[in-house]
Amino acid sequence: MTISARKSDDQAFMKITEASLGDPFAAYLADDTTRALVAKVAARFGWPETAAEGGGVAAAARVIAVAPPPRILIVDFADSDDPLDDLIALEEALIAGSRVIAVGADNDARLARALLQKGAVDYLVKPFSPETLEELLQELQHEPKSDTDETGRIIAILGSRGGSGASTLAASCAWVLAEDLGQRTTLLDLDLCYGDAALAFNLAPGTGLRDSLETPERIDDLFLDRATLTAGERLEVLAAEEDPSETPQIAEDAVENLLEHLAERSSNVVVDLPRGFAQSAAVFKRADEIILVTVPTLPALRDAIRLQRLIRDVAPSSRIRLVINRADRSGNGQIGRRDVENQLTRKADLVIAEDQDLAAEAANNGQPIAALRPRSPFAVNLRKFTKSITGQANEGGWLRGLVRRGR
Ligand SMILES: Nc1ncnc2c1ncn2[C@@H]1O[C@H](COP(=O)(O)OP(=O)(O)OP(=O)(O)O)[C@@H](O)[C@H]1O
Ligand SMILES: [Mg+2]
Repeated sequence: MTISARKSDDQAFMKITEASLGDPFAAYLADDTTRALVAKVAARFGWPETAAEGGGVAAAARVIAVAPPPRILIVDFADSDDPLDDLIALEEALIAGSRVIAVGADNDARLARALLQKGAVDYLVKPFSPETLEELLQELQHEPKSDTDETGRIIAILGSRGGSGASTLAASCAWVLAEDLGQRTTLLDLDLCYGDAALAFNLAPGTGLRDSLETPERIDDLFLDRATLTAGERLEVLAAEEDPSETPQIAEDAVENLLEHLAERSSNVVVDLPRGFAQSAAVFKRADEIILVTVPTLPALRDAIRLQRLIRDVAPSSRIRLVINRADRSGNGQIGRRDVENQLTRKADLVIAEDQDLAAEAANNGQPIAALRPRSPFAVNLRKFTKSITGQANEGGWLRGLVRRGR
């Protein structure tokens, strides 16, 4: 099968920018089994299952000829007599900025290399696992938008239930980003009355956070210099300890405004997000990463499922990472890691064991666990996890393995 296409050096093509991209995702597979698998993974990203269609590369080329190409495009070349020639039919999509994932039936390294050289971002050999595809899609979702995109990464952390360990994780995560990875980081605690972020670093909060949310027009660099607490050379904390009898009146767009300002002054803004925070949706929409922390119990799992659904509804393309905390507690009532993963249809990115002594010592010392016990399994695993958020754990770049095989 050969499908002709316009030449890539056509100057008019070069003017096409990302703005001309259409849907976030479309896939054209050559067999029903792979189509069903792709539809299932697409649903995890909030994309319609119908975005995974049949027809392979020929169908992809037909659609792209008449409609804006999707941002991520999966194309099955299994039926193609000449995959490289057929890839040219997708040239318009490639130039517009579509990230094209090629799928094939053969583990042919030469073909894979040639497809990658022509602009495909990866080559998946059938059969591949849902996890392989999910991992790749997540990487694509979170490629930097451009080299000049210099605003900081916003990492929102929330627990599925009270006491899940979201604040514990947020404090250590912020510390690792600043101290281990040397990146300027702000820890923002949006629990205005009961937040722990300042306590976690033995600091006394002022009224700056409340002021910044009630009168957002006051925010500028000088204001934030005064409002933030210094927790290290590259680490600042913005937290409050407001009187629980007075509910701060958060102004419209104040949370978005604050996040924008913080992302301009820091490489990372770690947001400790309390459950039930009225402006959670604004944080989800702006967050680059959303870390959902849950303990392995049924009630917590139920709430994790509901929160994941909420996040998917308001921020369909956000990246969610799952942390299971306080695992292996000797008490009954715990459910297995696999149950949590199956119900949430995602793998845990980090599993933290119960360690009451360590947690209590850190709280009493006013130090995050990663600072207090940098060699503890908690800190070692958290460092690896945090590095993966910054892309540093991704040795050899995100295009790992020329040909991916199902695991
Ligand atoms: N892995 C762990 N092992 C033992 N104790 C832990 C662990 N993780 C957290 N804790 C402890 O559990 C308690 C609750 O943790 P944390 O405050 O981080 O949870 P949270 O999700 O932020 O809760 P909240 O809903 O109150 O904001 C704290 O006392 C903390 O020290
Ligand atoms: Mg908390």
